[in-house]
Amino acid sequence: MLGALGLVFGASIAADPFVVAALKPAPNVLPVEDEGNTSDQPPAELREMHPARMAIVRNPIHDESNPEYHRLQKLDDAMLGVKRDAAGFPDWMMALRSGAIAPRAGLSPDERMSTFDLNIVMTNTREMPNVLFPHLSHTLWLDCVNCHPYPFLPKAGANQITMSEIFRGKYCGMCHDRVAFITFFSCDRCHSVSHAVTERKREPK
Ligand code: HEC
Ligand code: HEC
Ligand code: HEC
Repeated sequence: MLGALGLVFGASIAADPFVVAALKPAPNVLPVEDEGNTSDQPPAELREMHPARMAIVRNPIHDESNPEYHRLQKLDDAMLGVKRDAAGFPDWMMALRSGAIAPRAGLSPDERMSTFDLNIVMTNTREMPNVLFPHLSHTLWLDCVNCHPYPFLPKAGANQITMSEIFRGKYCGMCHDRVAFITFFSCDRCHSVSHAVTERKREPK
C-alpha cells in the first residue's frame, strides 16, 4: 500500500515543474559572478547574505521616497538581541526559549499556554529524511484548535501531505513561509530524522 502511494506521489511530483525547481535548495552563498559584469550585481555587503534574506532586503515593500518612511522601525532595530537562523531570519524558537521574547498567552497576564509534549514522526517523505513534528514547540505558541481538526486530523498518519501542497501554503505551509521559518531554505529543520533511526524504532524489542 505504502509503495503504491509512493509511486502516485512520485509521478505527480515529477510532472510539477514548480516542485522540481523548489526541491533544489538554494546554496548558502551566491554564485561567483562574471568579473566583467558589474551592471546587475548587488552591492558587496549584500553578496555575503543568504539569498532568502537578500531577496527581502532588495525588494522593500515600502515606498522609500515617502517622506514619512524614516519613521518606520527597521527590522534590524526591532530584532536587536534576537539570534538569526541559518537563513538570516530571526530564530523565533531560540528567542522564546532564551527568554529574549515572552509573548502573553492571553489577555490576562496569568494565562499560560497548555503545552503538549508529543513528537510525531511522519514517514511519507520518499528519499528525504523523515519529518519530526514537535507538538511541544508548537503548543508554546498555538492552541490545539489552530491545527485540529483542520488542517490536520489528530491521528498519526491520517493526513496525506505533499511537499507541493506545503509550498502552495497548505498544511505546514499555512504558517511556515508566512509567520514561521521559511520552508524553502530549511528542509532539514523538518526533515530531521534519518530513515535508519525510524526503522530501528519499528523493530520489535
Ligand atoms: C515545515 C516543515 C517542512 C519543511 C521545512 C520541508 N518539508 Fe518536506 N515534508 C514535510 C511534511 C509534513 C511532509 C509529509 C510527510 C508525511 O506525510 O509523512 C513532507 C514530505 C516531503 C517529501 C515527500 C512527499 C512529496 O511531496 O514528494 C519530499 C520529497 C520533501 N518533503 C522534500 C522537501 C524538501 C526538498 C524540502 C526543502 C526544500 C522540504 N521538504 C522542506 C514537511 C516539511
Ligand atoms: C501546529 C499544528 C498542531 C497543533 C497546534 C497541535 N497539533 Fe496535534 N498534530 C499535529 C500534526 C501535524 C499531527 C500528525 C498528523 C499526521 O501524522 O498526519 C498531530 C497529531 C495529533 C494526535 C494524534 C497522535 C497519534 O499518535 O495518533 C493527537 C492526539 C494530537 N495531535 C493532539 C493535539 C493536542 C491535544 C493539541 C493541543 C494541546 C495539539 N494536538 C496541537 C499538529 C498540531
Ligand atoms: C498553525 C501554524 C503552524 C503550522 C500549521 C505548522 N507550524 Fe511549525 N511552527 C509554527 C511556529 C509559530 C513555529 C515557531 C516559529 C519558528 O520557528 O519560525 C514553528 C516551528 C516549527 C519547528 C521548529 C521547532 C523547534 O523547536 O525548533 C518545526 C520543526 C516545525 N515547526 C515543523 C512543522 C511541521 C512539520 C508542520 C506540518 C506537519 C508544521 N510545523 C506546521 C507554526 C506552525
